[in-house]
Amino acid sequence: MKSVLEFQHKKQQGQKITMITCYDYTSACIVEKTQADCVLVGDSAAMVMHGETNTIHASIEQMAMHTRSVAKGINNKLIVADMPFLSYRKSLSETMEAVNTLLCAGAQAIKLEGVQGNLETITHIVESGVPVMGHIGLTPQHIHTLGGFKVQGKGRQAQSMMIDQARLLEASGCFSLVLECIPMHLAKAITEAVTIPTIGIGAGPDTDGQVLVFHDLLGLQSTFKPKFVKSYLNGEALFVNSINQYVEEVQGEVFPSSDYAYQGDLE
Ligand code: KIV
Repeated sequence: MKSVLEFQHKKQQGQKITMITCYDYTSACIVEKTQADCVLVGDSAAMVMHGETNTIHASIEQMAMHTRSVAKGINNKLIVADMPFLSYRKSLSETMEAVNTLLCAGAQAIKLEGVQGNLETITHIVESGVPVMGHIGLTPQHIHTLGGFKVQGKGRQAQSMMIDQARLLEASGCFSLVLECIPMHLAKAITEAVTIPTIGIGAGPDTDGQVLVFHDLLGLQSTFKPKFVKSYLNGEALFVNSINQYVEEVQGEVFPSSDYAYQGDLE
């Protein structure tokens, strides 16, 4: 999938959209070989790649660096890059500078979190020629307001408010919406309430697509595993075992054998 138009087409055809996060060139080369539709250079990079405890620490410089690295390995998939915390809340001109930085780094679309105070900004970005993906439910950049990484949209009032938010984001020009950590029946109701595709993470099976963090999908870290994460590989154990095997072979003088050495006479 190379364009946002294909997102719309997939929803109309009832085909699920698949998205995976990616932050570096080597991972991008792997993802490029898969059938995943598109790539998110998420601000989760702050946590996964830089060891921070939340995404507030992501900067525009970091996001541009990750986007540039990913873009070198991805040729046939849409690249969406996250606008970091506050980068779209200072002024319109600073917002557009940040958008431009991500586009020049290789993104074809940007994602930003939340609704209140963002609608005119989104319309301006879209009318400037840049597709925008919205993000509601658990919006990790609002962690201090939300009081932690918690399921959102519990209760009738919160649910009807979130459906309204989705409609507002659609009206403001978003081409798609991420729904994060909300009850599955609410995700279904939102998906039916808007014509743009919804991409779920911790939102159940009824969204138009799914997104997972690369490292979660491959089981590369065992310290943090929310209920909604399915790991298709125990990557951490594979890496640890392989590195230990290397260490043992060096210590036991098994590696490098002559197969891994250059031959030839001394001159
Ligand atoms: O940054 C990220 O990885 C995200 C996904 C969780 C949707 O925003």
